[in-house]
Formats: sequence, structure tokens, C-alpha cells
Amino acid sequence: MSQQRNVTNKKLFLKLNNDNLKNEETIHLEGWVRSNRNSGSIGFIEFNDGTYFKNVQLVYSLDTINFEEITHFRTGSAISVDGKVILTPNNKQPFEIHVDSAKLLGDCSEDYPLQKKRHSFEFLRDIAHLRPRANTFNALFRVRNALAFAIHKFFQERGFMYVHTPIITGNDAEGAGQVFHVMSDIKNPTAFFGGKNASLTVSGQLHVEAFALAFRDVYTFGPTFRAENSNTTRHASEFWMIEPEIAFADLDDDMELIESFLKYIIKYVMDNCKDEIAFFDSMIEKGLIDKLNHILNSKFEKLTYTEAIEILKKAVKSGVKFENNNIYWGLDLQSEHERYLTEKHVKGPMFLIDYPKEIKAFYMKQNSDGKTVAACDLLVPQVGEICGGSQREENYDVLKKKMEEIGNVNELEWYLELRKYGGCIHSGFGLGFDRLLMYITGLQNIRDVEPYPRTPGSLKF
Ligand code: 4AD
Ligand code: MG
Repeated sequence: MSQQRNVTNKKLFLKLNNDNLKNEETIHLEGWVRSNRNSGSIGFIEFNDGTYFKNVQLVYSLDTINFEEITHFRTGSAISVDGKVILTPNNKQPFEIHVDSAKLLGDCSEDYPLQKKRHSFEFLRDIAHLRPRANTFNALFRVRNALAFAIHKFFQERGFMYVHTPIITGNDAEGAGQVFHVMSDIKNPTAFFGGKNASLTVSGQLHVEAFALAFRDVYTFGPTFRAENSNTTRHASEFWMIEPEIAFADLDDDMELIESFLKYIIKYVMDNCKDEIAFFDSMIEKGLIDKLNHILNSKFEKLTYTEAIEILKKAVKSGVKFENNNIYWGLDLQSEHERYLTEKHVKGPMFLIDYPKEIKAFYMKQNSDGKTVAACDLLVPQVGEICGGSQREENYDVLKKKMEEIGNVNELEWYLELRKYGGCIHSGFGLGFDRLLMYITGLQNIRDVEPYPRTPGSLKF
């Protein structure tokens, strides 16, 4: 057997996934002690080898070669174990491992912060280097991984091409002025890129549009950065975004894509992370599985912005209190308004479409009413906006006029050119990966779904 096979075969994940754990078979595993207790003649270690969400019970007894030594293994230490698999189909755990011998590979000192008890999320945020070992985060990062894979799988199965858009850019794609500047010399900030201001990307959209006009259906999926100084549970300075762009497609095609995409990836995670989702359902958000099933089985409703304003006005009249009760056509809806619409009015996921052009980005397609743009935001209960999309303005003159107004023609001449050289109707959207993960797991703070969250006021790791 080659060294390579030997290494991979030792993973519990592979053994379980191939359904090839046999009763009494000998097994060698490496992993970490989650807890260890004994009664003098028999002992139990909750053991996790990292490749499988649930702990495995190791049972050691006086038959075990080094019983006495094992009783001293501390929570958190790294060990290897040789033993036998004992299938226990009638117990909660389908199998356990009877230890022949175990070896301490890396001791863990007494001050290990992850002793077996419940810890607050705040406390765990402060130990981002250790929290992946805590149950909630162990489950979360597995789901994060599966979700990322499902995203690629969905697009690749449908012939979308994956494009790597740049992280360093010379333009503010959203025109909202919330960029982080990039420079190599603080005294001479534009020197490095030939006199140009450089920043971290807020969105890959503009760059990926060019690829849609060559490859038809494309997507980018990468980190984006926003210098919004809003200290909320839903805003991060660095987050991942999925941005597909489809040519020869209008806003309706875009919404159809969003809906089928979202249902596909949620279903993928529910099917492939059953233990993890069951854990979130019981420990983090009661009813989570019902909520996700509801998404899979419902048709997403559509409301125009104009209809939404009427609904909100009526709500205020009937006594609903928002922090901002001044509802008028043209208002940039706040999260409280969005949540009212999706939680109280529709009671499920919904698209809000046709926003006033003044409150949306310059690249959106102007509707024939001259007042609104062909944009859609997907709103979901608890989170509010999770995804924003639009049909793009393909008319050269209309777009040029818009860009002249906001003054970005110079830096984005290439973008405008796309409308001159074989432009066509095209649409796309951006889905906040981290916000979606909050929704799927029930975790309430964006700081708890990112490996090393970047938010205003902290940069510990
Ligand atoms: O609505 P946004 O700003 O849209 C765009 O960037 C477009 N260029 C997308 C496109 O059409 N290709 O951002 C898209 C999504 C939001 O709906 C939200 O889920 C997420 O990105 N998002 C954030 N997530 C975490 N922290 C932040 N600070 C976020 N800002 C936006
Ligand atoms: Mg948006």
C-alpha cells in the first residue's frame, strides 16, 4: 500500500463515506481529545479526528496496554489511537472504538480555553484561532465549505464559466465611495500604479460583465471589501460575494436564476450536511429545518418598490412603529422596512423590484417610466437583503449620461465601450455569501460565520 493511500485511509470521513467500517476491524486514527473521564477500570474519551462532525467515543479499559497513561490525557491534546471498531447499531452513536493503545502526540496545557462547557459567542470570537474546534464552529465551517462547493457545482453543471476578477482595482464599482485604498508608499499613494488611485474591490461585477459579453454565462466568486463604518451584525469589511452575469437575459431571467440557484444550494447543504444542520436546528435556531424547507417549497413573491411604499405607509397608519416612520416614494428603505415586508407582509422570501433610479447604482437599466430601474433585491426573514441584482443598462447614450452625472466616465471608459462593441441585454446579481450562511445556520452575527472576521474596530488575527 502506498504511503498516500495509507494517509487518506486513516480519515474517519472516508471510512464513513464509503460505508466501509466493519465490526472488529482494526483502526488507527489521529485526532484530539474533547473530554476524558474514567472510573478506575474503564474510561471514555470523546474524540474528534477533524474529518467528521460528530465525536467518536473511545473506550479504554484495563485490557488497554497503557490504561493509566491514557487516564491523564487532557482535553484538547492531540493523540493517536490504535483499536477496534465496534458497531453499536442500537446506541445513539452507531459505533465506538475499543482502544488497544493510545499515544500522546501533543499535550494541551491546563489553561486551554475550550474546556467542556458552553462558551459565549463573544468569548469565542476572541479566540478565532481555537474556535474551529468548538462544536458550533466545527459545524459552521463544514457548512461554509459545502456551500462554496455547491455554488461552483450549480454553475458548472449549467455551463457557467468561473472568472477570477481582480482584487486590486482602479474603480469603485458601486459608486458608493466605500473603498479601502491600496498603496505601497503612504507619502506617494498613486506612484505605484502610474498615477492611478488603487483600491480593494467592492464588487467584481463590472469586470465580469465584460466576460459575459464574450462567454455568455459567467460568474465570479471571491472576496470583496467595503469600508462602511457600520457596526452591525450584518456588515463585514471583508466578505465573499457570488456574482453571476448572464448575457441575452433580462430581469425576469435574472430572478429565475436567483430563485433556482438559492434553492439548489440550500438543498445541497441540507442533503450533504445533515448532522450539522440538525445541530443548528436544535442548538441555534429552533425550526431552522422547517424554515429552509419552506424556502425550497415556496415560490418567491414579487413586489414593486412602489407597492412596497404603499404597504409601509398603511402599516404606519395602522400603528406599526419603525425607527424611521417617514415613508415616502424615493426613500432608501432601511433594514427595518425590508424586514417588515418579508417577515410580516409576505412571510417568506420576496423580490422587491423597480426601485427609484436615484437610490440605485449607475449601471442599472432604466425602465420606460423614466423614474425606476430594473433592479431586484431578494429579501428574506431575519436577514433582510441577502442578494441584489439588476438588468444592466445596455444603451450607450443613456449609460454615458448617467456616468457623466456621477463623474466616472474617465476611469470606466472601458466599461462604457462594452455598450459600443456588440453590447446586448444582460443581467446579473450579487449574493452575499456570509449573509446566506447566517440564514442557513441561524447564526445571528456575521462575525460568527467568517473564519477571521474583519469589522470596524478590530483586527486581532
Ligand atoms: O447590493 P450590493 O452592494 O450589490 C453589488 O455589489 C452588485 N455589484 C451585485 C451585482 O449585481 N453583481 O451587494 C450584494 C450583496 C448584498 O445583497 C449583501 O448580501 C452583500 O452583498 N453585502 C454584504 N455582506 C456583508 N457585509 C457587507 N458589508 C455587505 N455589503 C453587501
Ligand atoms: Mg444591495
